[in-house]
Amino acid sequence: MARQIAVFALIAVCLFGFTQAHQEEFAVQGKVYCDPCRVQFETKLSKSLSGAFVHLECRSISNSTKTIEVDGKTDANGFYKLLVTGDHEEEYCEVSLKESNNQECKDVMEVDRARVGLTNNNGDKSIERFANALGFMTREVDPACVEVLKELFTNLGDDQD
Ligand SMILES: *[C@@H]1O[C@H](CO)[C@@H](O)[C@H](O)[C@H]1NC(C)=O
Repeated sequence: MARQIAVFALIAVCLFGFTQAHQEEFAVQGKVYCDPCRVQFETKLSKSLSGAFVHLECRSISNSTKTIEVDGKTDANGFYKLLVTGDHEEEYCEVSLKESNNQECKDVMEVDRARVGLTNNNGDKSIERFANALGFMTREVDPACVEVLKELFTNLGDDQD
């Protein structure tokens, strides 16, 4: 009897492992930067921000119920990678910034979240999904920003000639 239970338990564990292994898994990746110019976009003075906390969650489109959430943190190069299981076709998924642990760069931007599609049912069969870069701002504007922005806008003007 004990042996039968043991065998049954073993089979159950194997089946469970099997179904788990076949669940889809997405690797959501992105980067977090520090904007020292307070312009809320990346410039050549932007730096990658390590140790920033990010949060991913998906909600049902029809009733807004949260279906999954994953927390993560950026590495030394400002990149994060969040593993999300399951297909989330009928859901709205986004990565948002939670907190910066860099005291010099922790002001939030107007846009602090990025949408990601987490389904294989729309033609995209890849496992890796990339979210738009997100950032925090320094409190003080770096004086070097003046030159960089001047250059940026001059170049924009040239393109229109
Ligand atoms: C919300 O919608 C999903 C389908 O998108 C459904 O599976 C779930 O049961 C619904 N939850 C509630 C609380 O109505």
